Amino acid sequence: MKPLSMMLSMLTIGIISSATMADVTPSSVTIANSTPMASSLPNASSLPNVSPANSDLVNRGAYIARAADCMACHGEDYTGGSPIATPMGDIYSTNITPSKRYGIGKYTENDLKNALRKGRAPDHMIYPAMPYPSYSGMTDEDISALFAYLQTVPAVDEAPEHETDLPFPFNFRILMLGWNAINVPSSEKREGLTQPQQRGEYLVNNLEHCGTCHTPRNSTMGFDKGMYLSGAPLGEWYAPNITPDNDSGIGTWSEHDIVTYLRTGQLDKRAYAGGPMGEAVAHSTRYLKDEDLGAIASYLKAVPAIETENKVTAVDVSTLPNPISESITHDLIAQKDYLKQAKAKAGSNSPEALYLAACASCHGVNGYAQSDAGYAPIVGLTSIRQDQPDALINVIVHGVDGATNTSPKMPGFSEDLNSEQIADITNYVRVNFGGLPASDVSAEDVDRVATAEPEQPFLIKYAGFLAILGIIAALLIIAFIIRNIIRSRRRV
Ligand code: HEC
Ligand code: HEC
Ligand code: HEC
Repeated sequence: MKPLSMMLSMLTIGIISSATMADVTPSSVTIANSTPMASSLPNASSLPNVSPANSDLVNRGAYIARAADCMACHGEDYTGGSPIATPMGDIYSTNITPSKRYGIGKYTENDLKNALRKGRAPDHMIYPAMPYPSYSGMTDEDISALFAYLQTVPAVDEAPEHETDLPFPFNFRILMLGWNAINVPSSEKREGLTQPQQRGEYLVNNLEHCGTCHTPRNSTMGFDKGMYLSGAPLGEWYAPNITPDNDSGIGTWSEHDIVTYLRTGQLDKRAYAGGPMGEAVAHSTRYLKDEDLGAIASYLKAVPAIETENKVTAVDVSTLPNPISESITHDLIAQKDYLKQAKAKAGSNSPEALYLAACASCHGVNGYAQSDAGYAPIVGLTSIRQDQPDALINVIVHGVDGATNTSPKMPGFSEDLNSEQIADITNYVRVNFGGLPASDVSAEDVDRVATAEPEQPFLIKYAGFLAILGIIAALLIIAFIIRNIIRSRRRV
């Protein structure tokens, strides 16, 4: 490694993740015309902020803003203030409305380009909780359109409620220079792709920044490029392997399946977009044009398949329960009666009885909820077929907020159920609704997951110490360079 980059990397050592950003449950987001996700494949939801009164450029910019999912973090009104949890502490998104005082009203187009591509605001470095390592590949045309659009957003003259305040050494934003030297850009262009696949690559890597959640991190919290899209833990969630591997990825999904999932947030008896993915669908992918979703699907089929340890048991539909009957699934009173009978039959303390008492009022006796009302049908989901039960345990322990203000929430059960009961329900759900031959989640597993601290990569943990070492090293190098310069001057 060259001394400069070594020095920089020592100085910066770690820093930040946008990975853990999925911990963000941007809470203040509302969708103006939110429609419940339908189960058949509907057209793209129409963009709420596109109007014939706008110029073509502005309308194109509104689409770019959706495709790049700016709202997921900066909020539906772009006023910011959502915390992005990182191992170093919360980083708050900022006001990016055209307010001159609190927002980006004074930005030139070039300023926006630098912010998106290099992580440089006019007067400071930006933390990579803002996904500029992905946006670094954005085209000039897309940034121009986005700039034009952002100027039409109503200015809000208000600072976000919270400001970022990271501990030493991360409060020195200048350290990001070193981090950027190692970790930006975050992806390379693949060879031999068809034209639609190239478009898909641009969407996946640059605009939609899918890798910020689905690619694991290396010790400096940059992307682990060798494990591209092969799945990563995400706070209480797990972003699955989306490479075309058959056993641990989505190799068995057709391109149409991928499009359906990104458009509607679900795939019958296979997958559901909950938590952070639910937000990505609600704010971004459901608005994409058919050809763009098709391009993403085609590209995901072309990336190298990576086999990972967290295998997903294939669904054998014949072993899964059937919906009780259409009429009961859609009739609340009939459901209540049916649930009552089922509870009476199950006795009082069996895992089945626990499931019926705690879960069935929302997810149905057989796991088929009223999905048109936003309650997840849970039969066959990836999250319950994974070898690692952590994601499912987390959902039961912590609940789910729902992707938008209007979507129903799931309560957490850490107070109403003990670890043993949660383990029983987890096993019941995995075997009966996931089709797993067996499941042996224990109360200890539940305790481990429920009390887990987000894992800090080594370098982050010791960053304070290492940064001081780095600063000392840097001073030594500078002293050495100065000495050499002085010496060579003397020689002249
Ligand atoms: C994953 C969350 C996330 C997404 C998605 C995101 N941002 Fe950010 N953005 C942030 C955070 C967090 C900050 C503040 C970082 C800091 O304090 O250094 C930020 C800061 C910024 C800034 C710097 C503001 C300033 O001058 O301080 C700009 C400009 C910006 N974002 C624009 C955008 C645009 C445009 C998009 C969509 C293309 C976008 N962001 C998408 C999280 C996000
Ligand atoms: C009050 C209603 C309610 C109850 C009770 C409830 N859930 Fe949920 N559950 C939901 C909603 C709503 C979602 C979808 C959230 C979203 O859109 O992300 C969900 C999502 C899920 C998911 C999908 C996770 C994923 O992969 O995205 C699973 C699994 C699940 N619930 C299991 C359970 C279990 C097991 C119980 C009982 C211990 C339970 N739920 C109790 C409402 C409920
Ligand atoms: C903010 C983090 C985040 C982003 C960004 C994100 N995902 Fe996800 N994704 C997740 C999580 C978490 C899940 C698991 C959802 C669940 O279990 O309910 C998931 C699930 C999926 C699944 C289902 C996999 C399976 O086996 O069930 C697919 C496919 C997927 N994502 C594709 C994408 C694509 C393509 C993009 C970019 C357009 C993307 N994701 C962006 C977090 C994210």
